[in-house]
This record gives sequence, C-alpha cells and structure tokens, in this order.
Amino acid sequence: MIKRVVVAVVGLKGGAGKSTLSANLAGVFAESGHSVTLLDMDPQASIGGLVRGSDRISVLGYGAQAELHAQQGDITEWLAAQLPADGLAILDTPPTLSRIARAAISVATRVIAPTRLGQQDLDALLSTMEMAPGALIIINGMTRARLHRDSVAALRAHFGRAVASQEIAQSITIEEAMAAGLPVVAYRKKSALAGAFRALGGEILHG
Ligand SMILES: Nc1ncnc2c1ncn2[C@@H]1O[C@H](COP(=O)(O)OP(=O)(O)OP(=O)(O)O)[C@@H](O)[C@H]1O
Ligand SMILES: [Mg+2]
Repeated sequence: MIKRVVVAVVGLKGGAGKSTLSANLAGVFAESGHSVTLLDMDPQASIGGLVRGSDRISVLGYGAQAELHAQQGDITEWLAAQLPADGLAILDTPPTLSRIARAAISVATRVIAPTRLGQQDLDALLSTMEMAPGALIIINGMTRARLHRDSVAALRAHFGRAVASQEIAQSITIEEAMAAGLPVVAYRKKSALAGAFRALGGEILHG
C-alpha cells in the first residue's frame, strides 16, 4: 500500500499555472496507477472545467466551502477531514496569502509553486517562498527567448535545488487539452510535453 501523498499547489501570482498544473499532474498520477483526488480550493475558479473526472480522478469543487471554513476559522481541521484515506490528493489554491493557502500548505506532504518568468512573477515568487519555504519551484511557460533563459539561470542560482529540473514550456497544446477537458498526457500521449509532465510528476513524487 502506498502512503498518502498530499500535493499543495500554491503561489501568490494569478495565472502562474496552478490550476493547469494541478489538472495535468492529476492526469500523470492517474496514468501511473494512483487514485487521485483533485480538490479545488479556489473560491474564484473552477478546475472542473479543466479536467473531467475519470475512473481514477475525482474532482471536488470545494472553493465555496473552503471560503466558509476559512471565515469560521476551522479551515485546517476541515481540510484534513476531506482528504482521502489513501491515494494521492492535489490541492489547487487561490493566488492569495489566505488562510486557504496556509491550510493547504499545513496538510501537504509536498508543496509546489509554479511560476512564470516575468518580473512580477519572480517578485511574487519571493513572497510565495516566504509563505512556503520548502516548496518545489516549477518553471512554467518557458520559451527559447533569451530573457527567459536568463531568468531561469538567475532563478536556479538563487534557489538552487528548490527549482525542479523539469520545466514546462509555453504551449498551445496545454490550452487545447484543457479546452477538451483532458490532461496533456491523455490528449497528446506521445508528445514531448506529455513527457515533460511525466518527468515532473516523477520529480514531485520521488525527487
Ligand atoms: N505552459 C503553458 N502554456 C500555455 N498556456 C498556459 C500554460 N500554463 C498555463 N497556461 C494558461 O494560462 C492561463 C492561467 O493558468 P492557470 O489558470 O492554470 O493559472 P492559475 O495559477 O491557476 O491562476 P489563478 O491564480 O488565477 O488561479 C490559463 O488560460 C492556462 O490555460
Ligand atoms: Mg487557478
């Protein structure tokens, strides 16, 4: 039996790719045989539109309830009670320094922080890493632009091994897959991008 794994996906900058990554990692982990529970904890957003449930993926839209329990002050206890007894849970959080994000971090066995490479994204990442010091940083939206390569080099120099080796490219395939309600590993099984998500999933679980 595998021990329970809880992955919290956090970050203070909107649009960094938290929900996209949550949905695609759910696909990767399901493909490798795990039963995955995807908990959407963002009151503003619905991950249900990004990935359909399947045999191995349950999608739970908990944004409104999370907000309520955050206001009541029992969010951490409530969240802990929602986690599946075994298998793998992924917690998608809102882009704020909120009780919801803090609760997700406190119940997680692994915290990941996707970031894009603009200056505002990198500034926000510093605050994200103060909120979640042990987080694995995931570079999302990578291109071949010189500016991006320079930013990645600076990021790796600053954060060292806190930055995942596997980067996720900027790709229209990601948006196409999400529009189809599928993770990239199901939508374009043999693509380099699917391979990148699989490698990243391995790094998150075992790295
Ligand atoms: N690597 C990528 N390539 C292309 N598009 C991407 C990529 N990552 C994310 N996107 C797109 O960027 C937009 C924002 O992504 P997403 O909703 O996952 O961010 P988020 O961090 O969850 O945002 P929020 O903080 O508002 O919840 C979406 O339209 C998504 O399809
Ligand atoms: Mg989101």
